[in-house]
Amino acid sequence: MCGIVGSVGFKNTKDYIINGLKDLDYRGYDSAGLAFMEGKNINLYKAVGPVSNLEKIIPSLKQNPYLGVGHTRWATHGKPSETNCHPHQSMHGLFTIVHNGVIENFLELKTKLQSKGFKFVSDTDTEVIANLLEDKYFENRNIIKAIEDTMGELSGSFAVVIIADIDNKHLYFMKRHSPLMIGRGEDFSLVASDASPMIRYTDKYIDLDDETYGFISASDVEIYKDKHPIKFEYTPKSPDLTVKDLNGYPHYMLKEIEEIERVVRRLMVEYYDKGEFVFDNNLMNQLHQSDHIIFVACGTSYHASLVGARYFDMLGKSTSTYIASEFAYYPKFPGRKPFFIFLSQSGETADVIHCMNIVKEHDIPCLVLTNKKGSSLERGCDYSLLLYAGLEVSVASTKAYAAQVCVLALLANAYSNRKEVIKDLEECCGVIADIDHNLKDKVYEIATQLKDAKDIYFLGRGFDYDMSLEASLKLKEITYIHSEAVAGGELKHGPIALIEQDTPVIVTISDNVTASSMRNNIQEVKARGAKVFTFVTNPLSNEHDTIVVKSHKRYLSPVVMSSLAFYFAYYVAVLNNREVDKPRNLAKSVTVE
Ligand code: M6R
Repeated sequence: MCGIVGSVGFKNTKDYIINGLKDLDYRGYDSAGLAFMEGKNINLYKAVGPVSNLEKIIPSLKQNPYLGVGHTRWATHGKPSETNCHPHQSMHGLFTIVHNGVIENFLELKTKLQSKGFKFVSDTDTEVIANLLEDKYFENRNIIKAIEDTMGELSGSFAVVIIADIDNKHLYFMKRHSPLMIGRGEDFSLVASDASPMIRYTDKYIDLDDETYGFISASDVEIYKDKHPIKFEYTPKSPDLTVKDLNGYPHYMLKEIEEIERVVRRLMVEYYDKGEFVFDNNLMNQLHQSDHIIFVACGTSYHASLVGARYFDMLGKSTSTYIASEFAYYPKFPGRKPFFIFLSQSGETADVIHCMNIVKEHDIPCLVLTNKKGSSLERGCDYSLLLYAGLEVSVASTKAYAAQVCVLALLANAYSNRKEVIKDLEECCGVIADIDHNLKDKVYEIATQLKDAKDIYFLGRGFDYDMSLEASLKLKEITYIHSEAVAGGELKHGPIALIEQDTPVIVTISDNVTASSMRNNIQEVKARGAKVFTFVTNPLSNEHDTIVVKSHKRYLSPVVMSSLAFYFAYYVAVLNNREVDKPRNLAKSVTVE
């Protein structure tokens, strides 16, 4: 993971780097650091914690540094500390680098370099790259050659930006698997993990390919591949990049929950026009011709895929669902004509990209549902459907989950040409609006009762079980309270042993097929002392239910009931003074496997 930025010749290097790191902190926020070339000196500043901690320690600068690099870290090798924080320098200080990715053979390289006398101060794999560059440079005194030789020895993924002590006019770079973009201005060049830090200053970009390396200067960009300079073209900025704005909300998560209704409405417009579904004909043909649909995703996106698989199952299509990191090690291709559907809000999740590459090696068609146009998955898959959820800043995904479920509902209904889905989604929007305006206060009351709980269980069956998995993930992710989702029928096969006096259990009932079995489950946990809270959809409710939601189609209940669950997790987190938008140990985009 990690985010990197750099600039040469920019008029305000410090602002670009600090603001750029803030734009990129969705990639990790354990620690942040930067290096400025000030005159002939390279000065390093590092701080554990968010970018604001780094900002505080930078002194006022007499002169604008001509070039600089910055890094926001999500620790992979070595704990978050100033020593492990980037930038890292080679032993003799010739190279100062920032790195995003994982060097798989770093131990082997480290041992080799140690035997040559190189000393290491950090636990990171990045310091190995810095020393390897220096070692290679000593062999032939040519920076580009040193980069080529270094790349030849590294296994794994990297986007690296390099300051060379002997060259105060250029920033060097090299890239394999981890994202890196260049932005060109009139008399400056920028570099970053994605376009977000650069969009204020340029609309000329180069999205670097794997195995490229080279340098940027204030007036020029030079890119090499396989030891030769290559031609490149600038592309304009992605229209999907919007600047972050809380719009008066205390947290992005709350703002994003309250955007769900609008996102659902937007999807109806994007995927249904003038009485017809708007999906690529080739995509629909491939779906019809396939005899097995395989869903692959991680985290929240995986939970949305469970709902999507249920939609296609209900149409008589055979489906499988896999967690990407599992599929990557044990890939399966059921059926004679399989079709893959990947889900990824960011479009950059490393495990999912790995699976896409496996699927492509087998020449099997694939679709991705993603929120990021131009992301690796969007570019790599045969088909893509955008989520149109707008920028999702909070690490805890909310509106993107709702969007994924809605796009899958639209797709499955388009598959069976069932146009009533639009009426159903309209109704769903009304129910979500009712939650936003009238029910969230009740959710807050429950949150006040449960804020000190040590464990919270979610129970459901069918669609309600799929949603409970997401409810439980959201709660643990931002409150750090232990939580599990249990399928109602599984309760007596083990988990009921955990229920004791006052154990909180949140039961969701929105599915008429499973409602009466869920009522039995409530009795079973109550008999063991559980404190039960029920989230129920009309007309399945009774006078004892805690929260009653207006009637809607059961296949859309994951969208509706998850809104309640998102509010619940949010309020519990706020009541416990948690860092809602940036929970500990997590990052928005998981770009390492
Ligand atoms: O960008 P992706 O949808 O591929 O991300 C997958 C997961 O990392 C993500 O959903 C994660 O579980 C969220 N933090 C959940 O809120």
